[in-house]
Order: sequence, then structure tokens, then C-alpha cells
Amino acid sequence: MLSLEALRSVDWTFREVRAKEGIHGLHSYPAMMAPPVARTLLEHLSHPHDTVLDPFCGSGTVIAEAMRLHRFAIGLDINPLALLIARVKANPLPMEKLEQAYEHIQEQQRQLGQVEPPQFANIDYWFKPEVQQQLAVLKAAIDTLDDEPLKEFCLVVFSRVVREVSNTRPSEFKLFRLPPEKLRQHCPDAFAVFRERFWECATVMHQWWEETKDVAVRPRLLLHDTRQSLPLEPESVDLVLTSPPYGDARTTVAYGQFSRLSLQWLGLWQEDLDRLSLGGTPRSFPSPPPTLSTVLDAIAQRDAKRAKEVAAFYADLNDCLRNIAAVTKEGGYAVFVVANRKVKGVVLPTDKVIAELLPEFDVVATFVREIPHKRMPLRNSPSNIPGETDTTMLAEHIVILRKVRPTRASPPMVTAGQLRLLERRTCYSPTKRKFIALDSKNR
Ligand SMILES: C[S@@+](CC[C@H](N)C(=O)[O-])C[C@H]1O[C@@H](n2cnc3c(N)ncnc32)[C@H](O)[C@@H]1O
Repeated sequence: MLSLEALRSVDWTFREVRAKEGIHGLHSYPAMMAPPVARTLLEHLSHPHDTVLDPFCGSGTVIAEAMRLHRFAIGLDINPLALLIARVKANPLPMEKLEQAYEHIQEQQRQLGQVEPPQFANIDYWFKPEVQQQLAVLKAAIDTLDDEPLKEFCLVVFSRVVREVSNTRPSEFKLFRLPPEKLRQHCPDAFAVFRERFWECATVMHQWWEETKDVAVRPRLLLHDTRQSLPLEPESVDLVLTSPPYGDARTTVAYGQFSRLSLQWLGLWQEDLDRLSLGGTPRSFPSPPPTLSTVLDAIAQRDAKRAKEVAAFYADLNDCLRNIAAVTKEGGYAVFVVANRKVKGVVLPTDKVIAELLPEFDVVATFVREIPHKRMPLRNSPSNIPGETDTTMLAEHIVILRKVRPTRASPPMVTAGQLRLLERRTCYSPTKRKFIALDSKNR
């Protein structure tokens, strides 16, 4: 039921709800969308069987909630770890199968003996030798599973274990090594941690299977750089619901750094994802819209280099918005959950900038919500002077837009042949700039 009136009376804080309820607690991910926010927007702005797109899907909060509500969800992201987590949420599994997988892994662990750990840079810095041995055995044991969704579930559990048994500080998203004293005492048993996390995740997964076993539509998840034209037909999406990155990965959330150790162990690490993320590579924004132009000038007066970095982020975001506009149906909604961070003391009104970058959309409503739980930097150093911090991103803006005019020029559309390939689980590789088969190396 499409009802904006009902949305106006929502208390968007959802104070009483746990940030990682149910299936959303399967694996942590930076700056996850609050599940009740996703659920409420989906319920009010789309119908069952509508196509819902999250072009920055991360760990798949929108995807899972859309599936629960019988919407056809499509998720895109450049991060293979995010897609793995989202794919596992999209393929619910009952306890019976999970128990079989665990027994199989146990059996393999016994048979495999010693396994050579992978060779990646700094492995000895981040993992103690005994931990490397155990992780190598666990990974080899999981790889012998034939059932793909089951194997991917186990790989998500494995990724959690990698983080937990590494020498990194547990509470940080960025990679910081434990201080020497703590490192000396840090002797984790990766097998025991795997056992514990496996059953925790299995319980959550079984509940999720119970909740969704009657859902006929399954989400589709693709490795894709949203700055490139989207692998979707023009005007085919009823609702876009997403939270884009808040800024470049260097000064805001480093999704690549968060994922690196897991990706290296999973054999999925290709290159520095943070450089592929919005604003990761220098570029200019030749004619920014009025609001952005004003804030860029204000930042430039304080720091010309920072102003250029901020402009690069918005130039990338603009490319994404052009592609998103092209695939949204006329009459369809696009909702962006953003945080208006500060750079050099200047507030970046991303909610207003997005509206200005989407001239074929009208702003229907903007809601501001406090962030009670979200795991992301709440303090930054806007001046880059050590010790000098400022609060940032304590509230987020939910901007609801509606497409009321046609998009002028559509980016090139994929051919019917390519769409069939997508059905067979291929993906678009941002690094190779082409569609590639999802073999084990690319997943
Ligand atoms: C705020 S997070 C999304 C979190 C997600 N809503 C969730 O609940 O897990 C933003 C996501 O954008 C992705 N991203 C960054 N640059 C991208 C690009 N060029 N194309 C597609 N995804 C990108 C990041 O990898 C990250 O997963």
C-alpha cells in the first residue's frame, strides 16, 4: 500500500529495535541500514512482486527485507564480501542441511591433516602461525562442500572467524593491530571459534528459513560498479532503496579495509576496493549543482585539496545517480538514506545535493532520524589535526523522491544475451570491465 501519510507518522529512531536483529546479525558490515527503516519504506512505497533495486547493497539489509515482503530484489555492490553475505541471506537454509554441512566439515578436518596457508602480503603480521594452520584446514574443509548455498553459508561463518582470530583490534572497522601486550596473550583456537559461530549463525539461519520458506521470488545479486551503466533494462525498477557511501573511503568508512583479511582468505581479493569506491580516484566535477557548488567553495577557502577530494566523491555519485535514474520507472520512487557529514567545519547537505542531481525526480519528503546503534565513525577530525575531533553523522536523512519526468538519454542497455548470462550467475567485474562467469575465484 503506497502511503506517504503513514510514513509521516513513523518514529524513525526505532529505539527499541536491536541493530542486528535476526538474519541481519549473520555477519557485521560497516554502516548497515537499520532493518526497520528498510522494512517500513518497502511496505509503504512498494507492492508485492515489485522490482526493488539497491545499487549499493552492502550486506543485503534491503535485499533480505524485500525478500521477506515478497518483492523481487536486485542488489549491486563492488565488494565481493558484501555480496557473499547478501547472497547467503538470499538463500535461506534449514537446520537439517546445516547440521549435515557441519558434520561434513568435521570429517574433512580430521582427514585433511596439514594444509598450506595461502600466500598473501602480511599474513604473518595479521595471523599467528598456529591460527594460519587452523584457518587453512577449515577453508579446505569448507571447499569440499558441493552444495553452493551451503558452502557460501559456511564461508560467511569462516569470514567471521577470520576477523575474530586475527591480530586486529576487535572493535575497529579499519585494520589496527592489537597492542604488544594484548597480542602476546592473544592465542585463539580457530576451530573452537568456528564451532561457536557456526551454531550461532545456524540458529539465526534456520529461523530465517522458517520465516521465508514460502517466498517464491529470490533476489539477484551482482558484482557491479554503479558508476558503470547498470545491467538492467531501462525503466524496469519500481523502487530504489539504498544508502550510498557517506564519502570517500579514506576519510569515512573503509569498506575495503574492513573486508580485506576475509577476502584474502576467501581468495577473492583483487585490488584495493577503497580506490574503486566513490571518490577513491581523483577527478573533477565540471558543473556542480548550486548547493554543492556553494559548499565546495566554502571548503576550498579552507583547504583546496579537500575541496577537490569532496568534488571527486560527488562526481562519482552523480554518475551513479544518472544510471539509477535510467532504470527507474516513471512514477517509481527512489529513497536514499544518507548522512550529512562535515568537512573542514562545512556541512555537506548530501540529501539536497542528491535531489539537485536528479532533475527528473521530485522530492516527496525528507525525514531526519537519529542514529542510536549504527556502527560507523561518530567522531572525525575535520581539521585533520590529531586530537581535534567533531561529531559527525549522528543523524541520517531519508530522502524520498519520485520520478515524474522521463530520463533524457539512457545509458547503453545490456543485450538479451547478457541478461540470460546474468540468470546463470555471472557478474560484471569492475576491474576487468566485462561480464565474467562466477567461478570460485570470482565469488
Ligand atoms: C553504506 S554501505 C551499504 C550498506 C548496506 N545498506 C547494508 O545494510 O549492509 C555502501 C556500500 O556501497 C558500496 N560501494 C561503494 N562504491 C560503490 C560503487 N562504485 N558501486 C557499487 N557499490 C559501491 C560499498 O562497498 C558498500 O557496501
